[in-house]
Amino acid sequence: MDMQVIPAREGNHNLHDYEKTRESFSWEDMKKDFSWNETGKVNIAYEAIDRHAKNPKKKDKVALAYSSPEREEKVTFETLSKESNKFANVLKKYNTNKGDRVFLFMSRSPEFYAAFFGILKIGAIAGPLFEAFMEQAVRDRLQDSEAKILITTPELIDRVPQDELPNLEKIIIIGNNVENKERYIDYYQEMDAASEEFSIEWVDLEDGMLLHYTSGSTGKPKGVYHVHNAMIQHYATAQWVLDLKEDDVYWCTADPGWVTGTSYGIFAPWLLGVTNVVRGGRFTPDDWYQTLEENKVTVWYTAPTALRRLVSCGQEVLDKYDLSQLRHLLSVGEPLNPEVITWGMKALNLRIHDTWWMTETGAQLIVNLPSLEIHPGSMGKPIPGIEASIVDNEGNEIPPNQMGNLAIKAPWPAMMRKIWNNQSKYESYFINGWYVSGDSAYKDEDGYFWFQGRLDDVINTSGERVGPFEVESKLLEHPAVAEAGVIGKPDPVRGEIIKAFITLNAGYENSEELLEDIRKFVKTGLSAHAAPREMEVKDSIPKTRSGKIMRRLLKSWELGLPTGDTSTLEE
Ligand code: WT7
Repeated sequence: MDMQVIPAREGNHNLHDYEKTRESFSWEDMKKDFSWNETGKVNIAYEAIDRHAKNPKKKDKVALAYSSPEREEKVTFETLSKESNKFANVLKKYNTNKGDRVFLFMSRSPEFYAAFFGILKIGAIAGPLFEAFMEQAVRDRLQDSEAKILITTPELIDRVPQDELPNLEKIIIIGNNVENKERYIDYYQEMDAASEEFSIEWVDLEDGMLLHYTSGSTGKPKGVYHVHNAMIQHYATAQWVLDLKEDDVYWCTADPGWVTGTSYGIFAPWLLGVTNVVRGGRFTPDDWYQTLEENKVTVWYTAPTALRRLVSCGQEVLDKYDLSQLRHLLSVGEPLNPEVITWGMKALNLRIHDTWWMTETGAQLIVNLPSLEIHPGSMGKPIPGIEASIVDNEGNEIPPNQMGNLAIKAPWPAMMRKIWNNQSKYESYFINGWYVSGDSAYKDEDGYFWFQGRLDDVINTSGERVGPFEVESKLLEHPAVAEAGVIGKPDPVRGEIIKAFITLNAGYENSEELLEDIRKFVKTGLSAHAAPREMEVKDSIPKTRSGKIMRRLLKSWELGLPTGDTSTLEE
């Protein structure tokens, strides 16, 4: 710990006494803040939107402050409530019901949020897909979830393999002059005709609301299933960690195709009735600073990869903007470099609060709180109500300062409740009562947790999680590729980049053009962030005798490290 400790932030925080709150806190108590506590019948859409729309003091407040290069719009809680009611009625008209999977494949727009809450209001399960996904990624997710309805735009419809989706009954298209096809529904036409009144479907806390697909080290992406109960933790962390107050203007940069973009880009701010800034389109450092300035953002939640870009673009760019209203800054998704924290103190006079959690955990678990010291490089401490530890492979806790599996005592409110269609995978996360994260870490004597790396082969590139198997499978579809092994290679800006080792089929010569063609093939078939930035042609790819690719060995070769135990290597 060579970096200086940064003292607690001054001022009035929502969680001012961490130790005391931890001692006395129970999730049951937190439930008492909700109107449904008496009946037990809930809907997260009611708590996030309708509750404020029914409040005369709140209904005209801006819920969504949307901007993109083409469009700017402010949407109040009342409008969002009515628009999502209309969409709920459209879904009902086409026979969509509680528990059905309804997917959204589109860029961020006011329509996205109306549709998203419309889905939740009928008790259906929303599946937001990242707009950069290409055909294969879209197919895998819609097939596995057996989605019944898809909402998309004319720009993206060509990436939907309609003939291969027998369960998909309707496609709702948000655009002008929608083609007249049997499966197609014209969004604007239907919305114009729909009623603004809808009686919300009350569900149980344990009923499903959201499916986020995420990558592991083997197999196709898995559907992580979240339930309405998660709102209790979104609500708690919105207060403690985001430190949101009534008059804050909050911005989370994440796309709702990823869990940060739903838990903290949608639910957390709106459960507290706070104005939520959404910026569509791609970002440059100027766009970031401009969005912060123009909206007078007070609380900003972003990712190390974005912060590293701000650091590298220098003081001249920053000096063009007035960010004096910004008071709280947070980061998630990959390790936050101490250098970036130092930059934050110097350039912005703000502490940057790292937070750790995962798609599977549904909400923040280990965090840096405004009222606690920051030990740069550490992810912080578990929030009240969460017990975190470091365990060995049998699920036994190990002493401080020793590396092991970062684990969380199960359950907690926002925890996933299943992996869609894959019960054995779900069960494999839990050992001896602990949820085992797949990250390695240690805990120091002061109770701070320090991230060390992934224990599996999952790649984290610019904060996006990529499964090597998916990329390898796509590479194999290219006619020139015989075998493929994919690893994450450390990179100063992106955290890791994707590097692919391949062997070629007979008749193909290694050339720059061929490698570029293969790269493009992955980029246009799967998605841009999954395309290998580096490729190397080999005579063979190391495999175990049972045929598993030895990615660990590839990585050791790449980094010039000792190769360790290779006794299972194929002859
Ligand atoms: C993996 C989860 C839900 C957060 C967005 C990513 C890595 C996440 C941190 C952090 C170091 C981090 C871990 C984790 N990660 N936060 N603060 N420091 N690493 O969600 O796509 O499910 O990825 O991201 O490796 O397991 P995700």
